[in-house]
Amino acid sequence: MIYCITIGGSGMLASAMVRRTAPSIVILTGAGISKESGLETFRDPDGIWSRVRIEDVATPEAFARDPALVHDFYNARRRALLSPAVRPNAAHRALARLEAAWPGEVLVVTQNIDDLHERAGTRNLIHMHGEILKARCLACGAVSPWRTDMSLASVCPECDALGRLRVHVVWFGEMPLEMERIFAALETCGLFVSIGTSGNVYPAAGFVEEARRGGRAHTVELNLEPSQGHSLFAERHYGPASRVVPAFVERILRQGWQA
Ligand code: APR
Repeated sequence: MIYCITIGGSGMLASAMVRRTAPSIVILTGAGISKESGLETFRDPDGIWSRVRIEDVATPEAFARDPALVHDFYNARRRALLSPAVRPNAAHRALARLEAAWPGEVLVVTQNIDDLHERAGTRNLIHMHGEILKARCLACGAVSPWRTDMSLASVCPECDALGRLRVHVVWFGEMPLEMERIFAALETCGLFVSIGTSGNVYPAAGFVEEARRGGRAHTVELNLEPSQGHSLFAERHYGPASRVVPAFVERILRQGWQA
């Protein structure tokens, strides 16, 4: 990979074309990036948590107490995701374009359980909070694709166990997925971008501090409004994701992240 770097200092600058990899980029996304695709956020005034209590549907205790209620909650969200009207928007597509065009690694870490990044063409992707289009079997541990309603009558496609499936999402009180890989990427990235997340839920809300440690990474927030941790970001742009994300990606591909 040819990547252009500038060597030198005060007045005497020399450019060199060297064979090396460009700095890597880590992008964290949240529910805000999928809002304009027709999916609900959680903490906006009309968000999911304004109508439903977390402790009723999104904890292991809720599932143990009332599995049918938890299944119904995720069944409704799975049906919404699979409705023909829900498609990736310009922000998802811009991130796929960045991954394809940037000469270094681009890793998208999403808190979203939808599949809109994949549908837009993103390949290097971690679903840290799981995926609603997968089922996990509590009997054999297998994770399988799952696109229909789930219930106590559902059967594991791997081991045939009855009524032992749960949606493959990370509930409150459970460990997010692939944290080692995420922290390794944050440690070495040159740019960290947070998109469409309110910064209320850890560990994701702490990624910006991890990326900043040692003053290595430039940090950017792209959101509809300032998040909980907005002051931790060196650069901030506010507006709908379908507008601010493509504009930011075009700039990065044109000139990198220098001001
Ligand atoms: N463009 C950009 N940002 C938007 C848009 C938009 N069109 N619409 C809303 N937002 C912003 C909101 O201003 C808010 O800051 O997206 C953010 C969404 O925040 P949350 O609803 O809290 O969603 P998120 O941060 O992804 O939640 C984190 O909490 O309950 C859980 O597990 C769930 O993964 C989720 C986690």
